Amino acid sequence: MTIHSISVELLERAVATLRAGHLLALPTETVYGLGADASNPDAVKKIFSLKGRPSSHPVIVHITDVSQLSKWAREVSDDAIKLAHAFWPGPFTLVLKRAAGVSDVVTGGQDTVAVRVPRHPIAQQLLRAFAGGIAAPSANRFGHVSPTLASHVRDEFGDSLLVLDGADCEIGLESTIVSCVDTVPRLLRPGGITLSQLRAVVSSVTDVVSNDAPRAPGMLEKHYSPDTPIRIVSASELSSLVAEYVQHGDRIAVLAMHAAAKARDCVHWIDAGDDAAAYGHSLYANLRYLDKYSAACILVEQVPVGEHWQAVRDRLQRAAAK
Ligand code: TXA
Ligand code: MG
Repeated sequence: MTIHSISVELLERAVATLRAGHLLALPTETVYGLGADASNPDAVKKIFSLKGRPSSHPVIVHITDVSQLSKWAREVSDDAIKLAHAFWPGPFTLVLKRAAGVSDVVTGGQDTVAVRVPRHPIAQQLLRAFAGGIAAPSANRFGHVSPTLASHVRDEFGDSLLVLDGADCEIGLESTIVSCVDTVPRLLRPGGITLSQLRAVVSSVTDVVSNDAPRAPGMLEKHYSPDTPIRIVSASELSSLVAEYVQHGDRIAVLAMHAAAKARDCVHWIDAGDDAAAYGHSLYANLRYLDKYSAACILVEQVPVGEHWQAVRDRLQRAAAK
């Protein structure tokens, strides 16, 4: 379900909030963002202090449509334009050379900038009314699980933050990020758009290089993490491990792709199914839910290999990283 619009009164309040240099949370089809006026460095600084995020980590600038790109980026390649036309509005972010005047606060001091046109109707409504770029990372404290519901944002930051409720996010995982700074476009973060979809538009896009370490938070080893430790296990190990924890008298949480063989009081089991899109849509809500169970551990059944699962695997690996 998506909520398609907010009232005129709320829209005016949201625009006034941004113009005054304050923060708000907005829904996108990937995850909720913590937004500020991207052209106001002091406003963008507030994002970093509220999230507890290191200032060297760049944020994504959200714009209404591709016509706004030249305000934020320069030397935009033909490949970048093709990708933008193919995937905007949508769960897709381009990293490009920054235009003159784009603040170091937004880019983390780099000469590049990340830009995205979201398609969530409320994000679109807000961007059009604001008529400027909105800098927004995911609306969670640094390192935590990203929010896919307005209530998740309130759990992170309390009730004083203005949260525009767009219901649950359609994709549920952060956008696919492609860098078009060099001659060959590079996938930096897997997301809702798969590598084959990208290559159908620009055949030369290269896959994520795992030992590549750009100064970017989504690429930190540990990220997207609940407080409860996560262990990724194979389907065949799962039931014996659950039995071991139960024997120890531990509470245990499970994120599986199939139903539990038998229900037990001390086992909190979610069957997230075997459809990649549906699994990804609910992943963060499921992790947040299981995290509240005070379990010794969250056992996650290993998801399949293959590009439809690439973004889910990436987030699970980072959530489980020590
Ligand atoms: O779906 C999304 O992308 C969400 C929604 C709110 O748009 N945003 C999001 O933001 O996930 P955040 O800050 O949690 O992640 C932004 C990612 C970081 O991993 C960072 O690596 C990358 O964008 N990024 C931003 N600027 C960059 C730059 N100049 N070069 C390379 N990566 C950049
Ligand atoms: Mg994030």
